[in-house]
Amino acid sequence: MSDPDRLICFCHTVSFRQLQQAIRAGARTFEDLQERTRCSTGCGGCAWEVREILAETLESEALLPDPASDKGKDSQ
Ligand code: FES
Repeated sequence: MSDPDRLICFCHTVSFRQLQQAIRAGARTFEDLQERTRCSTGCGGCAWEVREILAETLESEALLPDPASDKGKDSQ
């Protein structure tokens, strides 16, 4: 488990916790996170980690769109 206060983006001092909070507040894409926190808008060196945190947080919090919601319409 990551330290929540660990800095992910050094250029804009964005922590793991801030990224998670932004995702819980509605950020769903890498670009959303850039807009809300300014992460990855400097050198870009943190981009891979930001993307990883985004994917892991969306998955662990079940925030991904439900793929079954579209498929269900065809199954009847
Ligand atoms: S470390 Fe995040 S943009 Fe440079």
